[in-house]
Amino acid sequence: MKNKVLNYLRNSNDYISGEVISNELNVSRTSVWKSIKKLKELGYNIESSSKKGYKLLECPDVLIEGEIKPLLTTSYIGNEIIYYNEIESTNSKLMELAKKNATEGTVMLTDKQTKGKGRLEREWIAEERKNIFMSLLIRPKIPPYKASGITQVVALSVLEALESLYNIKFTIKWPNDIIANGKKVCGILCEMDGELDKLNFIVIGIGINTNQNTIDNEIKHKATSLKIESGLSIERKVIVASVLNRFEENYETFKEYGITPFIKKLKEYSALINKNVKISNSFKEFTGKIIDIDDEGYLIVKTNEGEIKSIIGGDISIRGEDSYLPK
Ligand code: BTN
Repeated sequence: MKNKVLNYLRNSNDYISGEVISNELNVSRTSVWKSIKKLKELGYNIESSSKKGYKLLECPDVLIEGEIKPLLTTSYIGNEIIYYNEIESTNSKLMELAKKNATEGTVMLTDKQTKGKGRLEREWIAEERKNIFMSLLIRPKIPPYKASGITQVVALSVLEALESLYNIKFTIKWPNDIIANGKKVCGILCEMDGELDKLNFIVIGIGINTNQNTIDNEIKHKATSLKIESGLSIERKVIVASVLNRFEENYETFKEYGITPFIKKLKEYSALINKNVKISNSFKEFTGKIIDIDDEGYLIVKTNEGEIKSIIGGDISIRGEDSYLPK
C-alpha cells in the first residue's frame, strides 16, 4: 500500500488530500494515514496539513519498490520487489520463498543483514544503510552444468551498470568479484536448488560496497567502496535499477546463446588474465598463470609444472599483489 500512496504523492506537484488518495485507491483514510506514517518512518519528508492534505518534500535513498520500479526498463526482472529494513540474509530468505513458488524475477533488498553470507561459507559484512544487499530469483531452463555461467553474466551486468555511472575502470576477478583500483567493491553469491540433472532455481546474491566512507582495518588492503574510489555518493536505487536493467538484457542473451557471446567482454575486463595465481578448492591447491577464458567460460591456467588446466570454480589469489595474497 505504501508504494501506491507514494506514487500519488510523487505524481502530484502540490498537496494531495488523504480523501482523494483513499477514494482513488478504494481504501480507508486510516489506511492512507498508516502508509504516510510508514513512509515518514522510512525517512520521507512529507508535509501534512489538516486542510490541504499531504505534500512530498524529499525522498530518502531507500530501496522500496516505489523507488526502484520507476527506474526499471525490464519486463519481468523486478516485477516483484520485497524490501526488509533488517533481515538475516536476503539470499537465505529468497531461497525460502523460491521453494514456495516465488516467481522468476523477484528481487529482495534490505538495509541491514545480520547473517550476510559470502562465498565458501564466509561472512559478508558491510555497513548498514549505506550499501547494497540484493538477491534476485531466476528459474532458467538450462542443465545444471551450465549454471556457473550465470555468475559471470551477473558479474558482467554489475560491471556494465557501474561503468555507466562511475568514471572508474572496473575489472572482474573471475568469476564473481568486481574490482575497482585493485580492490573488491562487489561480491556475488549464486545459490542453486535442483537435482543432478534438473535445475529448479538460482538465487543470485549481490553485495555492493556503495556509499560506505571507511573500510575496516582488517580488510582495508583488499576491499573498498564506490564512494571511496570515486568521491561520488550515487543513490543506491539508481545502481540497483541499473544492475537489474543490464541483467535482464544479458540474461535473455544467455538463455538463448549461452555464455559464448560474453567471452570477449569477460576477457577484456578480466583482472586475472596474465596474472600468476594460487588456486584452491576443497580438493587441492596449485599455482600457475592464467592464460585465457575459453568459449565455455572456463578459466585456463598453465600450472607452474607446465600443465594446462581448465577451472570452473575455486578460490583464487593473485600472487605478487598484496590485495589477494593470504597474509
Ligand atoms: C562474496 O564475495 O563472497 C559474495 C558476497 C555476496 C553478498 C550478498 S549481499 C546480498 C546477498 N545476501 C547474502 O547473504 N549474501 C549476498
